Amino acid sequence: MKSDSEHWDNIFSKTKDTKLGWHEKDTSQTFKLLDKIPDLEKAAIFVPGAGTSILIEELIPRVSSLILNDISSEALNRLKQKSKQDSEKIVWLCQNIAQPFKKSIPEVDIWIDRAVLHFLTDENDIKGYFKNLKSILKIGGHALFAEFSLTGASKCAGLTLHKYSIEELSINLGSSFKIVSHFDHTYINPFGDPRPYIYTLFKRAK
Ligand SMILES: C[S@@+](CC[C@H](N)C(=O)[O-])C[C@H]1O[C@@H](n2cnc3c(N)ncnc32)[C@H](O)[C@@H]1O
Repeated sequence: MKSDSEHWDNIFSKTKDTKLGWHEKDTSQTFKLLDKIPDLEKAAIFVPGAGTSILIEELIPRVSSLILNDISSEALNRLKQKSKQDSEKIVWLCQNIAQPFKKSIPEVDIWIDRAVLHFLTDENDIKGYFKNLKSILKIGGHALFAEFSLTGASKCAGLTLHKYSIEELSINLGSSFKIVSHFDHTYINPFGDPRPYIYTLFKRAK
């Protein structure tokens, strides 16, 4: 059986960005939430599964710094090619986000996850993910999640998903995180299939 990183490397090595089932040209849903955060331009951001997302290119000029992680080195290499000119703002990391950080990571103001958390189905992996989040997100910082909602598809990229409600995200984050905003959004994937997502923004209380 392929490891998780081999699974994702295989997909990214064989598929053009525009043919990826999660490829989005329009990142406005994420910015609807990010625009609620004061001083976005001063923010340090952590992205647990950057993939080859256009969102990253759009974030670079609008924020202070980015730590871009992905389990797939293939995805990160492609993203590096696209963001070459702005490399001084970026720290690259290639690890399974469910595992403890392999090196010391500076604290960040915002954690942005689109379609990564929902691939973790093992309870210990989910715990490991939230432990990592809480270990680097500043007090007063924000966590943004865009995940398949309870009405969403059960599989993506050939993998079974764990779908989310606001309540379950809140429980995993713990009582020090307060919901700032949330909405449902049905993303239409490149093959024309509707994919219902839940978008949520939480703030870690001071
Ligand atoms: C559906 S894609 C979403 C990519 C990007 N966030 C976007 O919206 O286009 C899921 C991404 O998460 C990465 N990924 C999956 N499991 C991961 C894990 N356990 N740790 C880190 N990255 C992971 C995959 O390699 C892939 O780039």
